Amino acid sequence: MTKPIVEVRGVHRTFGAGPTAVHALRDVSFDVEPGTMVALVGRSGSGKTTLLNVIGGLDRADRGSLSVDGTDITRLDEDGLSRLRREKVAYVFQTFGLIPVLSAAENVGAPLRLARTPAADREKRVELLLDLVGLAAHAEQRPAELSGGQQQRVAIARALAASPRLLIADEPTGQLDAETGRSVMALLRGVVESEGVTALVSTHDPVMMALADRVIRISDGRLHE
Ligand SMILES: Nc1ncnc2c1ncn2[C@@H]1O[C@H](COP(=O)(O)OP(=O)(O)OP(=O)(O)O)[C@@H](O)[C@H]1O
Ligand SMILES: [Mg+2]
Repeated sequence: MTKPIVEVRGVHRTFGAGPTAVHALRDVSFDVEPGTMVALVGRSGSGKTTLLNVIGGLDRADRGSLSVDGTDITRLDEDGLSRLRREKVAYVFQTFGLIPVLSAAENVGAPLRLARTPAADREKRVELLLDLVGLAAHAEQRPAELSGGQQQRVAIARALAASPRLLIADEPTGQLDAETGRSVMALLRGVVESEGVTALVSTHDPVMMALADRVIRISDGRLHE
């Protein structure tokens, strides 16, 4: 057995206190095998974003243990969590989150700039990634000059730039029409193979679920496989 890249044990996350408290995660436990694509499915308000955020280090669990690529992230301080987000975990958001004044190529290269990757290596990596997501011909266009599906492809390329171990995508096709969404999902499926990354993707799309190696269902903060 290979060691899981994500290990979640007995995780709770509650917002607020007293009678109005929202139990967004209740005793959540599961593992993710490296190199797989896992779909996280559940109704609005079921806890998908909360779960992805505690795994990605954007939020903290109240109780339980969480390890990512062998690191117990509940023990990390803010600097440690920033390093985790810079080096091991990459995010793709529903709203793409690209920087409007930068070209597609500059957006993809941004994490490499942050990591002080030498310019020549950066350019090579950006070219390879834009090619991988089928946007080589659009490298110089700014986000507003790209379609929604193209913007999400740029966001996926950017997420992959610094070679993360784990890619977290929170409803990455939520703002796209069904057909464009499916092509973005197929792309994600492809990069799991070609980049050897592990992907954790929340979705409402049954087609997406079919592309995943495994589907985890969440309702009212509890997991059901
Ligand atoms: N920062 C917060 N403060 C208070 N309550 C929160 C906060 N974040 C989430 N919640 C609550 O936790 C529950 C789970 O929310 P979450 O965003 O994880 O759901 P979701 O499954 O991602 O929903 P959607 O499909 O609509 O994105 C909801 O009841 C939500 O109102
Ligand atoms: Mg959500």
